[in-house]
Amino acid sequence: MRTVTVGVLGSGTVGQDVLNLIERRQNIFSDVGVKIEVAGVLVRDVNKKRNIPDGIRVTSECDFLQECGVVIETMGGVERPLEILHPYLRSGRPVITANKALLAEKWTELRKYALDGKLYYEASVMAGTPVIGPMSTVLRASTFTRLQAVLNGTCNYILTQMEAGKEYADALAEAQALGYAEDPPTLDVGGYDTAHKLTVLARFCADGDFPYSAVQVTGIENLTLADVQDALKHGEKYKLVAELEKAGTGWKATVAPKRLPETHALCTAGASRNALVYEGEECGTLIFAGGGAGGMITASAMVGDLLDFLLGFPGHVPLH
Ligand code: NAP
Ligand code: HSE
Repeated sequence: MRTVTVGVLGSGTVGQDVLNLIERRQNIFSDVGVKIEVAGVLVRDVNKKRNIPDGIRVTSECDFLQECGVVIETMGGVERPLEILHPYLRSGRPVITANKALLAEKWTELRKYALDGKLYYEASVMAGTPVIGPMSTVLRASTFTRLQAVLNGTCNYILTQMEAGKEYADALAEAQALGYAEDPPTLDVGGYDTAHKLTVLARFCADGDFPYSAVQVTGIENLTLADVQDALKHGEKYKLVAELEKAGTGWKATVAPKRLPETHALCTAGASRNALVYEGEECGTLIFAGGGAGGMITASAMVGDLLDFLLGFPGHVPLH
């Protein structure tokens, strides 16, 4: 049995469940001859009570990273995680992250590590519902034409609650309590989190260097209870929709609220589920749907990435 030392950045909604899942599913590692040892967990407040396995070192210092063979980043933000991860990646070691803001906004710094297969980020889009895996592998054989997706669990939750008559502010507070929302939640309701995710996806099917700044973004903040209820009366639902399609010689990427028939695949996926309709010339129309936010479902993709790394599979390599 070989020991692989893991460092975890962050122990919030996602980080705690990553630690719990690593312990719960130890057998998937022992089956391949690996014992996982968690060297440390980086947090801001070491005194906060956490629901994690006993005996794990929780610290506000990054020194434990030196002894880690792989780092799992669940801290969020952009500048600080880059500052911590950059030297680590430069030393040739791999990183697993769920941080779509970091990926979307710091691609100039991260791209070469992704091309080297050192970045694993299945959890960054649609959490535990696998889309980056298929888009970075088998779907490459087909000529991509268009995608339409609901990629934000917080907005989906808010809009569904508004359909049931709840006020926007109350629904947002509930989504935050469920651990779905970003910090700050304007990233969700302003459409920016969806734009981050669309940018990550576009790099697998449109342009390996697709810039975040190219996405046109409108959020859901101006939708009223009356708008949502009026749509319902007409057999329609509001969804925050991400779209990517050809426009001349380039690509058009938008995020905006849309009124869709309730029979549309993005609506029938379910209230708390993300969905993605992928169209390719040869593969036809594919529909991916499943949970897109929450601690354990996100952890499932991150621990899956960890297993892929241990099995020798490269991380998610964009178009190049
Ligand atoms: P969270 O609950 O706010 O947890 C963040 C954790 O990181 C906390 O433990 C926090 O420490 C720590 N942290 C933050 N800034 C830090 C700093 N500067 N130095 C040291 N520690 C720091 O966030 P989350 O919901 O788990 O999300 C984490 C990441 O996963 C984000 O990139 C998010 O976009 C992504 N993601 C989240 C979900 C979801 O459903 N929540 C799904 C997919 C992807 P303290 O505990 O001490 O405050
Ligand atoms: N805040 C994000 C959402 C978390 O609501 O979808 C998952 O990426």
